[in-house]
Amino acid sequence: MSASWKQLSSQILLLLVSCRHINTKASSSTQPPLAPITPLKTDVRSIVLKGESHTEKIELVNPVNLTLECTWTGNQNKLPNITSYWTKDGEEIQNSQLSVQFHNGQYNIKQVFSIVSEENLGNYSCVFGNEAKIVFIVAIPQIGEVRDKPIISYMGDSAVLTCKMDDKKPKPNTWNWYRHNGTEKEQINVTVEPHRYEIKNKEEKTETRLVVNNLTEADSGLYSCGAVYAIGTTMSHVELKVIAFMEPLKPFIVIMVEVVVLVAAILLYEKSQSKKKVTTGDGTTADQKNMPQGDYNATEGSSSMRQRKV
Ligand SMILES: *[C@@H]1O[C@H](CO)[C@@H](O)[C@H](O)[C@H]1NC(C)=O
Ligand SMILES: *[C@@H]1O[C@H](CO)[C@@H](O)[C@H](O)[C@H]1NC(C)=O
Ligand SMILES: *[C@@H]1O[C@H](CO)[C@@H](O)[C@H](O)[C@H]1NC(C)=O
Ligand SMILES: *[C@@H]1O[C@H](CO)[C@@H](O)[C@H](O)[C@H]1NC(C)=O
Repeated sequence: MSASWKQLSSQILLLLVSCRHINTKASSSTQPPLAPITPLKTDVRSIVLKGESHTEKIELVNPVNLTLECTWTGNQNKLPNITSYWTKDGEEIQNSQLSVQFHNGQYNIKQVFSIVSEENLGNYSCVFGNEAKIVFIVAIPQIGEVRDKPIISYMGDSAVLTCKMDDKKPKPNTWNWYRHNGTEKEQINVTVEPHRYEIKNKEEKTETRLVVNNLTEADSGLYSCGAVYAIGTTMSHVELKVIAFMEPLKPFIVIMVEVVVLVAAILLYEKSQSKKKVTTGDGTTADQKNMPQGDYNATEGSSSMRQRKV
């Protein structure tokens, strides 16, 4: 009796272990788990589709059992039943095919998805017989105000890199900063290099700042900030460019040289012009000198010239 009990209990244990194994396997694979594992908060999104497609954005910050409900009013065919299925990131989810009856003027399906980690995020779609679909974009809030121009700082100075989460979005639990080294991004650990890096977060965690001190040219490159939520981290990038102090003066110097050349050219031109005038003046006086009443005419000529000048 006790032996059979022992056998039975060990079998149950084995069964439980194997179930657990299946569960963990399912959650770690790319296929999203179709059934809840642990009691989670629940959320329901229902969409009624009248046309052929619709896209709905769902922002999440905490793990949740998400029920997605799709209702389609059908097309002119109004088939009595239609095959439906779900996809994640464009790939059909296994065992999600279903024959749906046309009932009360609509097709209706719903499915629960456990969204517990970053890999469960993505695009979930319900598809009705390849004729209509609703896409749910399930994502962490994105960091706004992405800056595409690099931050430019001078060698020896400090640079401040900033990332900001929209005030209307949920506040992250914390922020991380990363440095790209060409192949990978390494998290910046302030305690390891306290002189070089400082991370300053706003009290409400809507904004983070990375201060890089004593800049050298080697600090140039790509940095990432990450807003950390319970369900995952959302990233944004900032580029830093460290330049020598003389570098910004270069265009200024070029302009200065151009100005000097231009001024010199103008002066030379003016000089040559005035020289020409002098020679023509000499010419007329020479002609007038050839005339009989030279001296009188010459003074008249110069006075008339003076008048013209005035
Ligand atoms: C679906 O409809 C077809 C006819 O269009 C019918 O033959 C089939 O039996 C129906 N299937 C179900 C599950 O109702
Ligand atoms: C989800 O859909 C959006 C918009 O169509 C697209 O930009 C994004 O790359 C998709 N994400 C995945 C993981 O497929
Ligand atoms: C980048 O960082 C990774 C991880 O720390 C390291 O393995 C790799 O060698 C680094 N690459 C370069 C080019 O420094
Ligand atoms: C950076 O400069 C400050 C003073 O400008 C100095 O106190 C500090 O030790 C320097 N840090 C490093 C890592 O050189």
